[in-house]
Amino acid sequence: MKAFAKVIYVLVVWTQLNHSISAFTKLSLSSSKYVSWTLDNKNGSIKVPASVPGGVYSDLMKAGIIGDILKGFNDVKTRWVAYDEWTFTGTFNVTEDQLGSAVARLVFHGVDTFARIMLNGNMLDLTNNMFVRYVYDVKQHLKVGLNEMELKFRSPVEAAKTRSDHHFAAPDCVPPEYNGECHVNQIRKMQASFSWDWGPAFPSVGIWKPAEIEFYDVAILRTINVKYEKRDAFWDLKIINYLESNMATKTINVTVHAWIKLEGNQTLHVEKEFNVESKDGLYTEVVIDMKISENDVRLWWPNGYGDQPLYDLFVAVYTVKDYSQVHKRIGFRTVKLVQTPVAANSSASQGLTFYFEVNGYPLFMKGSNWIPQHVLPEYSYEKSRTKQLLKAAVDVHMNMLRVWGGGLYESEYFYELCDEYGIMIWQDLPFACSMYPVDSDFLDTVRLEVTQKVIDLQSHPSIVLWAGNNENEAALRGNWYSTNSDFNKYKAEYIQLYVTTIKPIVETLLGPNSYLVSSPGNGLESEAEGYIALNPYDPHFGDTHYYNYVADNWDESTFPLTRFASEYGFQSLPSLSTMKKAAEKPEDFSLDSEYSKHRQHSPNGYTFIKVQMDKRLHLDKNDTSYFEKFVFYSQISQAMVIKTQTEFYRQSRDKWHTMGALYWQLNDIWQAPSWSGIEYGGKWKMLHYFAKRFFAPVLVSPAQVSPGVVAVYLLNDRLVPIINATIIVDVYRWDSLTPIMTRTFQADAPALSASRLKDEINLWKNNTSSIFIKFSLRAEEIDSPVNYFFPKPLKSIEGLQKPQISIYVRKPKKVGREYRYKVVARVDAVVLFLWLEAENITGYFEDNGFIATTPVGAQTYFRTKTQMKPEELRQKITYQYYFH
Ligand SMILES: *[C@@H]1O[C@H](CO)[C@@H](O)[C@H](O)[C@H]1NC(C)=O
Ligand SMILES: *[C@@H]1O[C@H](CO)[C@@H](O)[C@H](O)[C@H]1NC(C)=O
Ligand SMILES: *[C@@H]1O[C@H](CO)[C@@H](O)[C@H](O)[C@H]1NC(C)=O
Ligand SMILES: *[C@@H]1O[C@H](CO)[C@@H](O)[C@H](O)[C@H]1NC(C)=O
Ligand SMILES: *[C@@H]1O[C@H](CO)[C@@H](O)[C@H](O)[C@H]1NC(C)=O
Ligand SMILES: *[C@@H]1O[C@H](CO)[C@@H](O)[C@H](O)[C@H]1NC(C)=O
Ligand SMILES: *[C@@H]1O[C@H](CO)[C@@H](O)[C@H](O)[C@H]1NC(C)=O
Ligand SMILES: *[C@@H]1O[C@H](CO)[C@@H](O)[C@H](O)[C@H]1NC(C)=O
Ligand SMILES: *[C@@H]1O[C@H](CO)[C@@H](O)[C@H](O)[C@H]1NC(C)=O
Ligand SMILES: *[C@@H]1O[C@H](CO)[C@@H](O)[C@H](O)[C@H]1NC(C)=O
Repeated sequence: MKAFAKVIYVLVVWTQLNHSISAFTKLSLSSSKYVSWTLDNKNGSIKVPASVPGGVYSDLMKAGIIGDILKGFNDVKTRWVAYDEWTFTGTFNVTEDQLGSAVARLVFHGVDTFARIMLNGNMLDLTNNMFVRYVYDVKQHLKVGLNEMELKFRSPVEAAKTRSDHHFAAPDCVPPEYNGECHVNQIRKMQASFSWDWGPAFPSVGIWKPAEIEFYDVAILRTINVKYEKRDAFWDLKIINYLESNMATKTINVTVHAWIKLEGNQTLHVEKEFNVESKDGLYTEVVIDMKISENDVRLWWPNGYGDQPLYDLFVAVYTVKDYSQVHKRIGFRTVKLVQTPVAANSSASQGLTFYFEVNGYPLFMKGSNWIPQHVLPEYSYEKSRTKQLLKAAVDVHMNMLRVWGGGLYESEYFYELCDEYGIMIWQDLPFACSMYPVDSDFLDTVRLEVTQKVIDLQSHPSIVLWAGNNENEAALRGNWYSTNSDFNKYKAEYIQLYVTTIKPIVETLLGPNSYLVSSPGNGLESEAEGYIALNPYDPHFGDTHYYNYVADNWDESTFPLTRFASEYGFQSLPSLSTMKKAAEKPEDFSLDSEYSKHRQHSPNGYTFIKVQMDKRLHLDKNDTSYFEKFVFYSQISQAMVIKTQTEFYRQSRDKWHTMGALYWQLNDIWQAPSWSGIEYGGKWKMLHYFAKRFFAPVLVSPAQVSPGVVAVYLLNDRLVPIINATIIVDVYRWDSLTPIMTRTFQADAPALSASRLKDEINLWKNNTSSIFIKFSLRAEEIDSPVNYFFPKPLKSIEGLQKPQISIYVRKPKKVGREYRYKVVARVDAVVLFLWLEAENITGYFEDNGFIATTPVGAQTYFRTKTQMKPEELRQKITYQYYFH
């Protein structure tokens, strides 16, 4: 449909200009139709077919030279790959017609990382940054007929070492538990590819994004930067168009047409002619302005607050000979990161606020942190996985993800889906947990990288903030890497990189207030304190990261206040079914196994899980299924800790202006203990099911204010108030499905608020070991999940009965390509954390991890592409729950 409209438009323009123009042509170097690639190692012992986009590890897997890299100890066993030297050779034919163009430009969208690029024996470049797009004039090197391209890659491990010898920046290396490689901070490569505390080292090598040769005559449109600002009843659009031409072109004469499709099938056209001086063939800017009435577009809202209307914007550029076009889908919203003084005598003490105002409303950010979806960059942009993960975020009411600084700039598709789903993106630049060098080679490539990426990505309405780095301010101030003796040197270098070099690039492209120097930090206060604040974790300013593995984290009084929690988390183990995809022997399934030790990169990780678990749950050392229960209990522990902490942050909205809760971490990169809520492969841990409840827009949320005294909050994340709702408080004994007492409270709540009820629930005279409380809400047109409060650690409760559980499965309904089976678990006693599994069937439960307090203990749906009799499914369903 759109393509059709486009063609018509081109024809119209064609006749208007009366020139024989045509779209420029591309020769894809990523298609086996036009080019055949091979890969060989330094001594020639290996020669296999290669893929572009691709990489060495995936090519060697496809050729059967190495096995599944995520199995067993293969991260270490295949490390030789990262030390060897690899050459990609591609041969392709060029036609006379193609060479008839005045310009031939070779474009690599992603080279990972240190390649010497040769074309027919002519050296074009030595690359050094996997994030940038490399463009070369190659007309003089091409010939009609067969051509040969060669990319010879240095070992990234060795390149990092060589650079470190000249430009050392702390740390020396990652901890030994990581089985990683050193000095990744020296090179512009995904920082997690040399290992992290949740991931293996696979120092990848390859042409990880598409490549092509472009043929044209004068100039083409490479990319556009759309700036928009609301002024009175209008949106002022400023479209900065970046032209490319060959180096020899001095002036470019173009006609630019921009058109946008608005509400009611209106299309707004703007056309303008330019005669501009070329900037060495790269990034020649021509600007088009548009004025759009606010009545012609609808606002873009984050998930949970409204729709995400997107509008097609096209820009076409015509020269006397060429035609090229860029298409973006843009959304209209205003976003402001508000950092204004807090009234000194208010409950929020003093300092600055730190919150996002979207379309004029202060919104609480609910979400998590995104790590790369695969350790190999060539697999990290896979659409099905991207969609599965982002859909999972939307399904649990998330409205923000922080794309963390040790990973990648994500794919266009990733940001397009975030635009569609209403997931706002806090984008860290890829610098994390290190000091960084500032030699001129490094700064030059960083400048190019940041300029390209900010221009390419900024038109996405989902991207709301760019942050300079992850934890580097805190690392320097906290002396994480023994940098104190060189503090001033490192501080100067920090300022040179994130402030002098990067900040002006981002702010020139996006305007003031679009760049946060570090996360976590004190925001404007860090800047006022010379960029390395005395306490980057000051709760009165900016964002914080908070981890405490030894406190009793089911007790919310343990958590420090914050304006914005951009990281907090707790580890758990992946389920046995996910582990089975990587563990090879039955002996692996034990905490003491070599396998388990190998996968746990967090120093003392299992001890911390056990310490946390032991505070609230009881697991007998001699239990015959100790490991299986440890895995399950670790997920219960993680889910409850993050639930408690997240609700604490939501409750603190009014009293401390806390305005964000992004827990660490959404996804996983392999099958290993980690902080994730979703396992590698896509299976939800108990945490992710819990997130659906603790992030619900309206929630009744308890807080123990002193032993036996419970305050009740009504959390309202809607743009409208809650009027005359009823909060129902049921007190149960652990030994019965009938509440011993029920009280109700009338409650109102303003829009966007966390209201604390005047009444408290006082249990102090009761024997609190034998009771628990259930909270629910009755209000018109509001769906709110039930919530619970357990006054005593579950390990010391009294009266819990061993339940009888019966599973029922109904006939399925077909939804798309899936079958949706209703599954009911009937119970005769209270059941804690009832967890259903459908063994050996690929599929998932829509809800799980139930607290059963009624005879119909759990009701959910199982989704699968497999059709079977309900009875067949019933027999496959197994369950676990907490009991001691
Ligand atoms: C060639 O390189 C491979 C892979 O690095 C190595 O295993 C092999 O021993 C080398 N062969 C010779 C003859 O050096
Ligand atoms: C290039 O063209 C020749 C002659 O038509 C053909 O034999 C060869 O397969 C082509 N090579 C590629 C890589 O397409
Ligand atoms: C630029 O191109 C237009 C046609 O698109 C032509 O009318 C005009 O003379 C050209 N100007 C120059 C300086 O070449
Ligand atoms: C817009 O155009 C489409 C197809 O041309 C038509 O189906 C639709 O009804 C139109 N909508 C409005 C609001 O005019
Ligand atoms: C804070 O101080 C201001 C001015 O001194 C006063 O008007 C206001 O009522 C005070 N607010 C509170 C919560 O005490
Ligand atoms: C576990 O078993 C050992 C030996 O069978 C026994 O000595 C120990 O008391 C048991 N511990 C518990 C907590 O039951
Ligand atoms: C509030 O709701 C209660 C029942 O939940 C009802 O009896 C009462 O009339 C309502 N009050 C108003 C003002 O709507
Ligand atoms: C226990 O709590 C319930 C509900 O608050 C109350 O009705 C009851 O009197 C309490 N029992 C004692 C012994 O305090
Ligand atoms: C609570 O009640 C149980 C019996 O229901 C009793 O065994 C236990 O000692 C009581 N605990 C306290 C602290 O009174
Ligand atoms: C699942 O498959 C495994 C291996 O094929 C088998 O041992 C196990 O009994 C199966 N479980 C169920 C519930 O069918």
